[in-house]
Amino acid sequence: MELLEELESEHGPLTERVSRLQAVFAAVAAGQRQVSTVQGELRVHFEWLCHELLDHFGREEECVFPYLRHALPMVRGEVERLESSHDQICGALSRMQYLTARSGRRFEEGFEHLVHVFERFAETYALHASGEREVLRDAAARLTPEQRLELAETATSVG
Ligand SMILES: [Fe+2]
Ligand SMILES: [Fe+2]
Repeated sequence: MELLEELESEHGPLTERVSRLQAVFAAVAAGQRQVSTVQGELRVHFEWLCHELLDHFGREEECVFPYLRHALPMVRGEVERLESSHDQICGALSRMQYLTARSGRRFEEGFEHLVHVFERFAETYALHASGEREVLRDAAARLTPEQRLELAETATSVG
């Protein structure tokens, strides 16, 4: 699988994890689960997302985005917007980790705030994933076979 397709395919497990989190928050909102019972589960999900998202975003920003800026100057603005939403997503994620790591009572008191941060996180992530899919597909169609090879070699040297 080529690098651009590989990065897009990694969105699958990330999106699935965001959906699992949405299900946890929905269960609490519906009164099916108590706030006090979801803290450990949320911590595990956020920790997984932190590791996987930082790794995924890092490979995009260290390798693919610089190459696209250089090879396809017309996509520079879109690449900048993607990088900026990486920062927004990571900002929300670190706040959710902080709110979820607090003691049980403080976690329960801050749960409503956590819900709002999660809603912004989920919305920004969904917009980012769909926007990035368009940018990567457009870029893949514009790059010459030689450029695609060059990009793959750059990725190998970074990874
Ligand atoms: Fe991505
Ligand atoms: Fe991205």
